[in-house]
Amino acid sequence: MWKLIDLLVYKLALSVSRDGCEGSHEHDKTEHICGRPLGLCFNQTSGDLYIADAYMGLLIVGPQGGLATEVVTRAHGIPFGFTNALDIDQEPGAVYFTDSSSQYQRRNYISVILSGDKTGRLMKYDPESKQVQVLLENLSFPNGVALSKNGDFILLAETTHCRIMRHWLKTPKAGTFQVFAQLPGFPDNIKRSPRGGFWVAIHSRRLWILKLVLSYPSLGNALLKLPLDITKAYSYVAKWTGNGLIIRLSEQGVILEMLEDTSGNRWKSISEVVEKDETLWIGSVTMPFAGKYKI
Ligand SMILES: *[C@@H]1O[C@H](CO)[C@@H](O)[C@H](O)[C@H]1NC(C)=O
Ligand SMILES: *[C@@H]1O[C@H](CO)[C@@H](O)[C@H](O)[C@H]1NC(C)=O
Repeated sequence: MWKLIDLLVYKLALSVSRDGCEGSHEHDKTEHICGRPLGLCFNQTSGDLYIADAYMGLLIVGPQGGLATEVVTRAHGIPFGFTNALDIDQEPGAVYFTDSSSQYQRRNYISVILSGDKTGRLMKYDPESKQVQVLLENLSFPNGVALSKNGDFILLAETTHCRIMRHWLKTPKAGTFQVFAQLPGFPDNIKRSPRGGFWVAIHSRRLWILKLVLSYPSLGNALLKLPLDITKAYSYVAKWTGNGLIIRLSEQGVILEMLEDTSGNRWKSISEVVEKDETLWIGSVTMPFAGKYKI
């Protein structure tokens, strides 16, 4: 009897996955089919997990897990092309998330930068009305987002321009949008620090070659026409020149701390830093492990 139940549970477990997406496989070949979750955040009341999946839009899964279901996949009639990061205002309950581009997929993220793409958007999803609102559009690779402690403003990483933007949600400044901090590299996710301020993960320093390309947009588009996989080529360059880099910004956007791995080039393409109990938990786009750093 127990064997049978085990088998049933196993079958149930299988039916909550997508065909061909079990086990190990080459992620960059299957991610557009199997999905690639980039942003995660819990609803602290219900235990539901919201997921920003690069290919599937905004998803949700219950506290027991299982196959995530779609929440929203488009806004103003335009489908999301590269859903990226999210944060939740727990009270009154709103999900803020980014679509990095409606033209390029995550697999071609370097093209978003090289082409000077400006189709990125910041959205707000209201779970009560189930409506999605576009707060900002025409952004250049909007990436990580983080709400301030009291929800007065939201920070947004604009990866192409190596900067963090601030969008005011409350106070008389509501609706305004300004530069919060200029950075020495391409920012990925932003997380609030329990000591105040925000941790920003830096994908890579801004290499001289990209600086050149970004000052001449036509050069970027010419590179994109070359018969080579530009994202692969760039990762190759970054592998030899990139050190892991993370930055803590104050509530005013001043750089407070900067940690860089200059030793053995073991840390690279950092995607996220979460601080808890004097420990930093560090994720990466390319490293097959998570890092732990005592501060
Ligand atoms: C979180 O869950 C509570 C209780 O189910 C619900 O009232 C609230 O709207 C949810 N918030 C979000 C962002 O989904
Ligand atoms: C965004 O760009 C489109 C096309 O260039 C333009 O029509 C629209 O007004 C822009 N939106 C904002 C908010 O600037």
